[in-house]
Amino acid sequence: MSFLSATLSRVKPSPTIAMTAKAAELKAAGRDVIGLSAGEPDFDTPQNIKDAAVAAIAAGKTKYTAPDGIPELKQAACAKMKRDHGLDYTPAQISVGTGGKQTLYNALMATLNPGDEVIIPAPYWVSYPDMVLLAGGTPVVVETTLQNSFKLTAEQLESAITPKTKWFIFNSPSNPTGAGYSRAELKALTDVLMRHPHVWIMSDDMYEHLAYDGFEFCTPAEVEPRLYDRTLTCNGVSKAYAMTGWRIGYAAGSTEIIAAMRKIQSQSTSNPCSISQWAAVEALNGTQAFLAPNNETFKRRRNMVVEMLNAIDGMTCPTPEGAFYVYPSIAGMIGKTTPKGTVIDNDEAFATALLEEADVAVVFGAAFGLSPNFRVSYATSDDALKEACTRIQRFCAALT
Ligand SMILES: Cc1ncc(COP(=O)(O)O)c(C=O)c1O
Repeated sequence: MSFLSATLSRVKPSPTIAMTAKAAELKAAGRDVIGLSAGEPDFDTPQNIKDAAVAAIAAGKTKYTAPDGIPELKQAACAKMKRDHGLDYTPAQISVGTGGKQTLYNALMATLNPGDEVIIPAPYWVSYPDMVLLAGGTPVVVETTLQNSFKLTAEQLESAITPKTKWFIFNSPSNPTGAGYSRAELKALTDVLMRHPHVWIMSDDMYEHLAYDGFEFCTPAEVEPRLYDRTLTCNGVSKAYAMTGWRIGYAAGSTEIIAAMRKIQSQSTSNPCSISQWAAVEALNGTQAFLAPNNETFKRRRNMVVEMLNAIDGMTCPTPEGAFYVYPSIAGMIGKTTPKGTVIDNDEAFATALLEEADVAVVFGAAFGLSPNFRVSYATSDDALKEACTRIQRFCAALT
């Protein structure tokens, strides 16, 4: 019998991290690999945020804090929810964790019992199903379609709900597709939830600020105020503020669930880094002026990548509303063979051959629960992106 826990055997390591590690390994061996697999902006953290961290160190704010966040950061999160969404929360309704990942994990750990189902639209952020499994729940994956721009329909949500459904995890704009739900599309989903009072919604708004072409972000609790009591709104500073390494995320919800999340955090990691929390206060309260120029850069890159990938015979790449990902389909290439003799029988074979034969690292669609596709992260320089897309074009053109 294994010394390791049975729960662990149900969980797989993050494939996005594995792909990034493989690319790094090839790079270290001297290969000119271009990585399009990492989920983080290539911009530096804005200076005002770094200055706030330095000031926090100088002021001796280097000790334990309350387990789920300093009052100043909770207050900043409340102000943000009011400013951006017109939603009223008190600090007792805010939980600050070590990255958005921890707050999502805490919420699932705090609420799931064996047999509880969690609806997850696919393609999904890789961690959702495994977190549900770690917490003892059952992921119920519902596949979206490219034809519907990878968005879940009201009918799909309705038919996935059972008496055992506890949560519906909603992520817009999405990792890995970049798809963003309009107010009307989201309202159609919240209307379904209004008919099923036992289902709660966990909204992962991590990519809220990364939206293009005038896309208007909205979050479930503002679209359907009657869902306020059964919505947990999760967000963080990692993506928009280029703070992935600082590890700060937060969630807003009912005092009961927030207290339960606090209990878990207090018995596991305790408070997120005190210095990062002060930096996050500045991120939320300080200037947001850098968001617009950053988004212009992301939009320019998105347009270039979509155009170059759609020029490939057998590839279809929708133009998404936000985040910094695209999720092209390679349905037209399945069954083809690379010059080195690899048969592309699925998207994992495609991504592996692309890395080994063309030195471009992407993440295969099966990792996100919808195939045959792959995810490109365009959070890298224009020159690197152009070269990578040229390599992908050449690689695909050589398939027979
Ligand atoms: C959809 C989504 N939610 C949450 C997270 C977690 O972010 P953090 O780095 O703050 O833990 C990520 C990070 O990749 C993400 O893509």
